[in-house]
Amino acid sequence: MLIALTVLGCTKDEAGDSGLDAETQAIVDELNTALEDHESWSQAPEWDGIQPSETVHGEWTEIWFNDAAYSTYEAQAGGDMPDGAIVTKQAYGAEDGSGLLNHTTMFKKDGAWFWASWSPEGDLQEASFDAPSCSGCHAGGQDSIMVLTW
Ligand code: HEC
Repeated sequence: MLIALTVLGCTKDEAGDSGLDAETQAIVDELNTALEDHESWSQAPEWDGIQPSETVHGEWTEIWFNDAAYSTYEAQAGGDMPDGAIVTKQAYGAEDGSGLLNHTTMFKKDGAWFWASWSPEGDLQEASFDAPSCSGCHAGGQDSIMVLTW
């Protein structure tokens, strides 16, 4: 049934219980698995540990890069992030990392960024390649990454 709906180009409202179409749900599932150990991923010297945020994300943010993203940064060879790159960020209300405000993620897939965000309770609030509320603001960064250049 889900597959049939997807072929017909269903909207979010018509899709499965999660409210997501099957393709989006598959990407979210892949992301959730990848993010299980994200607090052990690399952090950049430019944004090491919890730093005061420069924007809407919250007062304080902490950012991690998976191997694909971090090795691209380390290579300092320019270009865009490769498929499979994940950059993920937690925002907090306090410098000591208490008071989680949100968890946002960028995932490079088929040459484009998939944008996702979760509430402190883990509810999915954004999950899309087409997320103007994220991408518009990020357009100023190298391949839409705000905290690093490579
Ligand atoms: C008002 C501008 C703005 C909006 C809207 C915005 N961001 Fe950001 N984002 C930033 C800035 C600036 C940073 C750098 C870190 C900081 O200051 O907290 C950042 C950092 C990030 C990072 C860490 C990687 C990087 O780019 O440096 C992720 C992941 C991220 N944002 C995801 C998202 C997602 C997902 C959305 C939409 C739900 C979103 N952002 C909306 C401005 C924005």
